[in-house]
Amino acid sequence: MIIDSYNRVHDYLRISLTDNCNLRCFYCMPEEDYDFTPASRLMQADEIATLAKIFTANGVRKIRLTGGEPLVRKDAARIILSLSRLPVELTMTTNGARLHEFADVLEEAGVRSLNISLDTLQADKFMLITRRDIFHQVKSNIDLLLGKGIRVKVNVVVMKGLNDNEINDFVAWTKHTPVHVRFIEFMPFSGNRWTSNKVLSLDEILHSINADYNFLPLKGGAHDTAKGFIVPGHTGTFSVISTMTEPFCGTCNRMRLTADGKLKNCLFSKGETDLLTALRNGQEILPLIQQNILSKAKELGGQFTGKLQDVHAELIENRSMITIGG
Ligand code: GTP
Ligand code: 5AD
Ligand code: SF4
Repeated sequence: MIIDSYNRVHDYLRISLTDNCNLRCFYCMPEEDYDFTPASRLMQADEIATLAKIFTANGVRKIRLTGGEPLVRKDAARIILSLSRLPVELTMTTNGARLHEFADVLEEAGVRSLNISLDTLQADKFMLITRRDIFHQVKSNIDLLLGKGIRVKVNVVVMKGLNDNEINDFVAWTKHTPVHVRFIEFMPFSGNRWTSNKVLSLDEILHSINADYNFLPLKGGAHDTAKGFIVPGHTGTFSVISTMTEPFCGTCNRMRLTADGKLKNCLFSKGETDLLTALRNGQEILPLIQQNILSKAKELGGQFTGKLQDVHAELIENRSMITIGG
């Protein structure tokens, strides 16, 4: 088992397949022209499988593929199918743009649940946020997967003045659609124009919903990032991911492998361990993983606390979100 110095068992690995993406969301990637990592510096499909096997042999029970956008990688289907042979729950976070091309592969791989990013229900605002005109494609892909019985969580990063006026529209969507909408507090990452006054907090999100709906809390899983709720009579649910105002680090079970093969023990960790170079040099990998996880901070990479006034984005050392994968 992989355990940190606070006795947290780490059985969930997020693997980023690429830092490339077919959208250009400003809150995720730096404003300036961004150079995507060249293929030679990315983990190759066989290297991903080798590293994943080491993690699963040591207690990892869930693997989430992330990006950038995982499905822009040319060999994404091959990687999905190869990881599906491991004894893990395999899942993915995607922007949904190419899901129609992958529905069969996901079915073959036994993927039962997907997290899809969609920050607005308005086509023109989608274009403003992502700089790509594919709102209807993403929306119809969500319907396609729901129709196949796949559980879909929709990630909505809430930003004041941009999409906070749509919170209740997203809740309305859950009335007849079995979709799980998750409102996410906007988080600071390198180059993403974060300021504390753009964050809509858990309390503010619930306050907005309360104006139109009565809702009840749902019992969550032990390691959930989201606090869940349901409006009685609705088919779907909604929840809030409150990293900024009510972090949930006490039950953290996550590790992250970046597309260039670096192990990050927290979304906000500064230190990284280069597992890919170690693998290419024939070094033993497990001791490196254990050492990295033992150095994990108690909360939020040790970089801030759950009080917005303590967050100084310019002092947070990190990668941009597009190179972490969320
Ligand atoms: P589940 O496996 O469904 O619980 O997925 P998830 O919520 O962990 O993953 P997803 O990729 O859908 O991310 C949704 C939001 O949660 C994003 O904004 C992530 O950055 C954030 N998130 C994911 N993992 C963590 C984490 O370990 N810590 C914090 N603070 N936020 C996280
Ligand atoms: N704050 C919160 N969530 C973010 N995501 C991307 N950037 C941010 C941010 N700055 C979300 C995406 C995706 C998930 C992996 O992370 O919407 O769904
Ligand atoms: Fe775990 Fe870091 Fe996320 Fe907290 S911020 S839940 S410690 S990954």
